[in-house]
Amino acid sequence: MADINRDENDLLISSNLMTRHCMGIAATGGGKTNFLNLVLKQQMMRGGGAIHIDGKNSKESILEFLNLARQHDRWQDVRIINIADPTLSNTYNPLLRGDADELTSRIMDLIAGGGDPFFRGQASRGMKAISGVLKAMNLPFNFGDLNALMSDERAMRWVVDNGPKHTKEYVDYMTFFNQLFAPNPRTGTLELNERKMQHTFGDLGSRLHSYYVGAAGRVLNDYTPELDLYQAMKENLLVYVALPMLQKKEIAVEFAKFFISDLRTAVGQIQDDNYKPSPTFLVLMDEFSSYAMPSLAALFEQARSANVCLFPFIQTISSLSDKENGLSQDFASKILGNTWNKISFVLQDPESCEVMSRVAGESLQESVSESFGDSMSFAGGEDDASVLRTGGRGRSYGRSVSHSYEAIVRPEDFKNLDTGEAVFIGRQDVMKLKVPLVKLDNSDKNLDFPKFRLPQQQGVGLAEKFHDKAK
Ligand SMILES: Nc1ncnc2c1ncn2[C@@H]1O[C@H](COP(=O)(O)OP(=O)(O)OP(=O)(O)O)[C@@H](O)[C@H]1O
Ligand SMILES: [Mg+2]
Repeated sequence: MADINRDENDLLISSNLMTRHCMGIAATGGGKTNFLNLVLKQQMMRGGGAIHIDGKNSKESILEFLNLARQHDRWQDVRIINIADPTLSNTYNPLLRGDADELTSRIMDLIAGGGDPFFRGQASRGMKAISGVLKAMNLPFNFGDLNALMSDERAMRWVVDNGPKHTKEYVDYMTFFNQLFAPNPRTGTLELNERKMQHTFGDLGSRLHSYYVGAAGRVLNDYTPELDLYQAMKENLLVYVALPMLQKKEIAVEFAKFFISDLRTAVGQIQDDNYKPSPTFLVLMDEFSSYAMPSLAALFEQARSANVCLFPFIQTISSLSDKENGLSQDFASKILGNTWNKISFVLQDPESCEVMSRVAGESLQESVSESFGDSMSFAGGEDDASVLRTGGRGRSYGRSVSHSYEAIVRPEDFKNLDTGEAVFIGRQDVMKLKVPLVKLDNSDKNLDFPKFRLPQQQGVGLAEKFHDKAK
């Protein structure tokens, strides 16, 4: 390794550079959690806000976050989102923010990769008509309401009767509505054509329904939720999102996509408002590749001007281009290019080691080679070949200086990092770090966190009116 071991040198990253984001890469057991706790601790100390999306969903990790906040007098800023356990969660509704287009793409991301383009087009037009008219009604809605509008004729007719008739959104909704209805050949009355409905939305309705029922349902359907991401960023709150990656991978991944896409809307709004969180707001994204989607590349650019630092953590470089998750090489390059700071803990797979070594770059090395030579030559005697006579004797000395580029950090150096050791690759600097061990006092086992009872706002209430039996 070149000279990247420095003593008595703390790593300081300026706020300006923080908004150029940081990518973390770590195989398991390298000291990632400790490092994230260190980052969170510093952020809490300086009064900053953070979102920590944690792939581990355990009481122990929630307790750690709470205690860290308590120790820095920030307990009152904590919000917890835990779709696996409503008793350990604040409420949050990822459908409240964003216009009809944003909402549609947020929901369509659920079926990313799946379905043929024609079907996607149909579903997306339908979704746009529904979210458009709901937005125009200016009433909050939830997953149950969306599901009702995709499956229940009474709910659909209720919107026809109560929708804002003077708006373009209403007209679009009516166009959509009329396509789904056909006159009954015997009675002549218009009836919902179930087959057409099924063709339009496939299983999207039932997937949305799964966010309305069960544990996740109790967290995600409030019309006046306790957590609003835009507000959280403005107020420097400390949001802990527990993703049940091990227990309920599919729903955890889908939920994380909703969350990040809602975050994108919030960042966009902050940008529009010309408001900047201060200090730089931090978004730690554990298990990033499992819920990343191509549309996220743009978030990295937006976040920068909104003074939001994104901190995605991955386990391997190849996960960033995982086709099964709808990602590509192009996405991987965008993320690598848009994160000016990188930190690597011990790595295991050879590809990640290679790539990180290349990212760290090369340094110009001067190598000097010197050679000494002794030579003797013998010439055979003319008349007696057995007698050796010295013909000539010489000495040579050569010195050549060559320049070559060598890896600043060799691939195997990443493999040989110890727990708590890391290589930081900044814009101009490469450093080997020894991350201090954060002392966590977890003796307080109290899982109390701030809860609010907000005045309930009236929502569109379609699921409740027509579908409550399903809940
Ligand atoms: N900087 C450090 N100095 C000394 N020990 C450390 C350091 N970081 C972590 N450790 C120790 O190594 C162990 C693993 O650390 P940590 O939980 O942070 O790893 P991890 O990468 O998050 O692991 P996992 O992949 O299992 O989540 C811990 O028991 C911790 O005490
Ligand atoms: Mg960990």
